Amino acid sequence: MKTRAGAILSSIWIDRSLDRKISVQLYMGLRDIILSGGLKGGERLPATRTLAGETGVSRTTVIDAVSRLVAEGLLESRIGSGTFVSQTMTDRIPDRPQASLGTGTRLSRLSPSKKRAVEQFADRRRLPHKSQAFVTALPALNSFPAAQWARLSARHWRSDRDEIMGYGNPHGLTRLRAAISAHLNASRGIQCDPEQIFIVNGAQHAFSLIASTLLRPGEKVWFENPGAIGARNAFISHGAELVPVRVDDSGLDVADGLIKAPDFALAFVTPSHQQPLGRIMSLSRRLSLLEAAENADALIVEDDYDGDFYFGDQPLPTLKSIDTQNRVIYVGTFSKTLFPSLRLGFFVAPTGMVDSMSTLFSSALSGIPTWSQGIVADFMEEGHFATHIRTMRQLYRKRHEVLHHSSENLGDHLHIERASAGFHTIGLFRQPRDENAFVDAAQRVGIALAPIGRYCLTPIDRRGIVIGYGATNSREITQGMQALSGLFK
Ligand SMILES: Cc1ncc(COP(=O)(O)O)c(C=O)c1O
Repeated sequence: MKTRAGAILSSIWIDRSLDRKISVQLYMGLRDIILSGGLKGGERLPATRTLAGETGVSRTTVIDAVSRLVAEGLLESRIGSGTFVSQTMTDRIPDRPQASLGTGTRLSRLSPSKKRAVEQFADRRRLPHKSQAFVTALPALNSFPAAQWARLSARHWRSDRDEIMGYGNPHGLTRLRAAISAHLNASRGIQCDPEQIFIVNGAQHAFSLIASTLLRPGEKVWFENPGAIGARNAFISHGAELVPVRVDDSGLDVADGLIKAPDFALAFVTPSHQQPLGRIMSLSRRLSLLEAAENADALIVEDDYDGDFYFGDQPLPTLKSIDTQNRVIYVGTFSKTLFPSLRLGFFVAPTGMVDSMSTLFSSALSGIPTWSQGIVADFMEEGHFATHIRTMRQLYRKRHEVLHHSSENLGDHLHIERASAGFHTIGLFRQPRDENAFVDAAQRVGIALAPIGRYCLTPIDRRGIVIGYGATNSREITQGMQALSGLFK
């Protein structure tokens, strides 16, 4: 059996390809182990023959290295009993501070706003991210045309190497910006120049950039309550003061915002499909919000995360498309239309902001991977993107119907709202009930749910759950609803 010292010494790595002599490599390896406390004062070293075997070097080399350490006083040779780590020397080695990932000087060096944010983010649980009933935020990954993507990807890697392997445009691939601009024009009623489009590492990256470049610490941000968790955290971490604004059936309640903070600097909204309540902001609310922003000289962030999947009668115009004042920053993501691991999103900057954003992107930011942008650009240019969206819209409409049909016997306990976009809706408890306890019980029977409370900055009256139906098939939806029904009994 190996001795403790033997096991520790076997971690010494001898590299024969190096110029450095092997005895020096062994000497340095032994010295580091002693100095880092791997071998303690008074501990006996294995015999030189054993050491030679452990490290795969000759005995003469070991004797060389050990003699040097004895000469330096880190080891002591005791005739007749062997070689020991020197107690007197190791006593003088200062203790290494206990490595800690969470506390200590690093935390105290955080800026005040980041420190506040870290304290506020004490609950680091993440919502589940696996395709199953009723996970939220995940699209139908199993329906993604992976073979087609693989073909485009293989073709991409056969193109011109300078083009695909060099440094790309920090603002984003020109072809992709043009394809996005065409898509926004055709599908979201937004007319913008490709120069206004900045490609980022997902919508979350856009929120963070917007908060860090356009807000001063302490400035007020109207935030939907309940609202999007990731965006909320991005604004908090950049020191914004979030003002929880009520959400009703028509979306963000502008009057409530005006009472709480008429001097707001920015409003964050999800008008096409409120996150998480699923409501669509009415046209009159959209116009009131634009007017309020104009009066306060504020900006609006329109997060259109799943607006492509509208399956109601007639979609309302995006805020950006009716923004005559150039105040709306439109944020889009490929996490829902394609898949989240791409980490690809974009924002459309108001024209007045393009120059300064452009300078920042080209001077201080170095862009995001261009190869994935290239494949997405091909996917869009060749029409696969539009086809995929059409197919998914039908699929989500169908899954939404299945959800409603299979929830009929839950009616006494849970009111499931009808959605007309995206792939999540909410279920409101008909009787008072603890959301978290219900979500935990559902998890125990294999159902992933999110409590509405997780999305709230301040508590609201509505109690219930967010139900995703994007990443779960019809059979799983039906079985999931039966399982939920069992939890109410
Ligand atoms: C409201 C909202 N916006 C945007 C996103 C997409 O973020 P990202 O593009 O960083 O994946 C999500 C993801 O779940 C979301 O819930």
